[in-house]
Amino acid sequence: MYGGHAVISIGHSHPHFVESIENQLHKLAFYSNSIQNPLQQKLADLLGKLSGCDEYELFLCNSGAEANENALKMASFQNGRSKIIAFQKAFHGRTSAAVNVTDNHKIKAPINTTYDVEFHTFDNLESIARSLAKGDVCAVIVEGIQGVGGIHVPHPVFLAEVERLCRQHNTLLVLDEVQSGYGRSGKFFAFQYANIEPDFITMAKGMGNGFPIGGVLIHPKFKASYGLLGTTFGGSHLACAAGIAVLEVIASENLITHAGHLGCHWMAKLMDLPLVKQVRGSGLMLGVEMHEPINQLRQRLLFDDHIFTGSSSDPNVIRLLPPLNIQQAHVEHFVFKLKAQILTPIPNLAQS
Ligand SMILES: Cc1ncc(COP(=O)(O)O)c(C=O)c1O
Repeated sequence: MYGGHAVISIGHSHPHFVESIENQLHKLAFYSNSIQNPLQQKLADLLGKLSGCDEYELFLCNSGAEANENALKMASFQNGRSKIIAFQKAFHGRTSAAVNVTDNHKIKAPINTTYDVEFHTFDNLESIARSLAKGDVCAVIVEGIQGVGGIHVPHPVFLAEVERLCRQHNTLLVLDEVQSGYGRSGKFFAFQYANIEPDFITMAKGMGNGFPIGGVLIHPKFKASYGLLGTTFGGSHLACAAGIAVLEVIASENLITHAGHLGCHWMAKLMDLPLVKQVRGSGLMLGVEMHEPINQLRQRLLFDDHIFTGSSSDPNVIRLLPPLNIQQAHVEHFVFKLKAQILTPIPNLAQS
């Protein structure tokens, strides 16, 4: 129920995925980006078609942090500013610029904190507006759905207003879809529940089904120029073969609609369980908030029932991120086992 941290989008060893990578390996695994790689174009075309973002340019890299790093760098190149607005509980990766906009001081070294970051909340537009009005904010970065922070969904109206304010003050909007993207939410990108057009969209986890690949979709209003962005390994032939296979499976198995429908059904079932405080999220990216810490519950699900679930920075939240081709029977089985575990009293070790 965790899909390797939302990475396994089409299931382990999907035959089309295995065959595509294997075939490519026999032809060419890698060549330098100084030579055009037609597989990058094929990947970009498929991605554009499936996501509806076909006007955007695609920059390929190797991970989520790297995608955010490049998006923030592009933003700073564009308006010459360096201050960033991010959100409380945000996670954007562990490399230099990406970790500075992550709301966790424990994982930042002094070398990471070389530019100003303000952390706002999803319910205070006024403070964001005040900050943007100063005219020195380079970009706002926000997750389509916050994952590590415990599954928090920014309201579509909130996102639309943030976009409007960004446009007004020449600040750029970066949508981090590293975890929430690639069909997981029931739309290709979670931000598509709002009517917005971000300047940069970052992605990674579900993109290669475990093969390391990340990307930045760049709004067509920005023109590429020599030296703006670059990479040695990003968009290698093998990575593209993996990425293309994932998109082909998502399309042919109709996994985005499937994730949306199954997620609705699952959410309703989870909300009915005893001791559940709240269920948040969308599609197959769900957070189940209990009234107390979930540590023991997760352990029992794992060791008694062989069901692996995710945690988050909120000790009371179980994070669910299964592959997009999970079936209704799996969901029913999970709900049955979770209910049984919730109703089983925890043995009092002090008395035994
Ligand atoms: C929303 C989000 N952005 C960025 C990252 C960083 O991705 P990576 O670990 O591939 O660098 C993560 C990883 O958990 C993430 O959840």
